[in-house]
Amino acid sequence: MIDTLRSVLQFRRFEFDANKRRLSRSANVDDLRTIAKRRLPRGVFDYIDGGAEDERTLAANQDAYARLTFRPRVLRDVGKVDPSTTLLGRPLPFPLVLAPTGFTRIADPQGELAVARAADRAGIPYSLSTMATRSIEEVAAVSPGRKWFQVYVWRDRGLVKDMIDRAANAGYEALVLTVDTAVLGRRERDVRRGFTLPPKIGLNTLIDGVLHPGWTWAFVRSEPIRFANVIGSSVGDGNTAVSLAAQVNSQFDRSLSWSDVEWMRSVWDGPIVIKGIQTVDDAVLAADAGVDAIALSNHGGRQLDSAPATLDLVAPCADAVGDRIEIICDGGVRRGSDIVKAVCLGARACMAGRAYLYGLGAAGELGVDYVLSHLHGDMKRVMALMGATRISDLNRELVG
Ligand SMILES: Cc1cc2nc3c(=O)[nH]c(=O)nc-3n(C[C@H](O)[C@H](O)[C@H](O)COP(=O)(O)O)c2cc1C
Repeated sequence: MIDTLRSVLQFRRFEFDANKRRLSRSANVDDLRTIAKRRLPRGVFDYIDGGAEDERTLAANQDAYARLTFRPRVLRDVGKVDPSTTLLGRPLPFPLVLAPTGFTRIADPQGELAVARAADRAGIPYSLSTMATRSIEEVAAVSPGRKWFQVYVWRDRGLVKDMIDRAANAGYEALVLTVDTAVLGRRERDVRRGFTLPPKIGLNTLIDGVLHPGWTWAFVRSEPIRFANVIGSSVGDGNTAVSLAAQVNSQFDRSLSWSDVEWMRSVWDGPIVIKGIQTVDDAVLAADAGVDAIALSNHGGRQLDSAPATLDLVAPCADAVGDRIEIICDGGVRRGSDIVKAVCLGARACMAGRAYLYGLGAAGELGVDYVLSHLHGDMKRVMALMGATRISDLNRELVG
């Protein structure tokens, strides 16, 4: 009996590192979301997790992936599977770019530095947001890897030009011009919670903070959260708590138009990616404007609710402009199989935002590493099960 017991009993060694312990019990990005939800104050979690209005587009982005099924091929010798590709003319180990997300330090004190380092280790580009809480230069100092800089066009063009010059000097590879934020979408979870950035201490947030002591302790011990790229400038660097809507609606330039893309060309020599294209017609205009890539994006369902799921735009946009510009599909990516589906339909790569923020919120930098290696591993497994050994094997015949 003792022998039988010995043969079936197996205890995990206790893991003393709390981040490693949490990760060892996670199987996917959704598990990390659950852990992040537990660890982060509710206001912070909802700021990351939420979308605009009824969150229809937020749900639609993920539903579109769930709806699409594979048509796997068999007996195709998948002894070696290689998901590597190229993007903007440079090699990439697998087709993923980390999307720009503002205020990343509210998920973890290391914030953008942690995410940029993890992206560098995985060999994929990291997009730093205009609204970042670590500066262009701070991020460049910790990551020699591929870095893109995401531009919101402020009314003060001098400030925008200055940031673009700083990105060029710091070795950023591409600019990402986000065009879906003329005004801020109505994120009703934030409205209900009176959420401000940086989080303001009121009675609710105080209770929320007490209930999440790990986060609160880290938050109060680290230096104040600021819009690191605009410290000391006219637009306000966040040293007082503001609602995001007030900041965006007063400072972003609503008169932004296609002529500004020309302006951007005149002040930046490298590749330009337009992020926030949501129709075939605009994809054609972007290609005509001579940009290098578009990110089909509805801001992860955070801006215009009832905007279309981005996956549904991939095939029609690829048909219209796929021979002229590269197409990135942004929004809803939680698994490697999602990336495979987008590539089958004609995307060159995907962008992901919340997936890495959940990892960061759940287990810091290690959590981001986990997400990236998970998505990479996922892709290789899914391609093997589909009978595809290279990215060029992925095509529309394989999905339906
Ligand atoms: C917390 C958060 C902050 C964001 N901040 C920005 C930003 O500053 N600039 C931007 O272009 N997009 C921003 N986005 C949108 C992302 O770049 C991306 O489009 C979106 O997260 C994709 O959807 P996904 O989260 O389902 O992957 C943000 C998204 C989240 C979740």
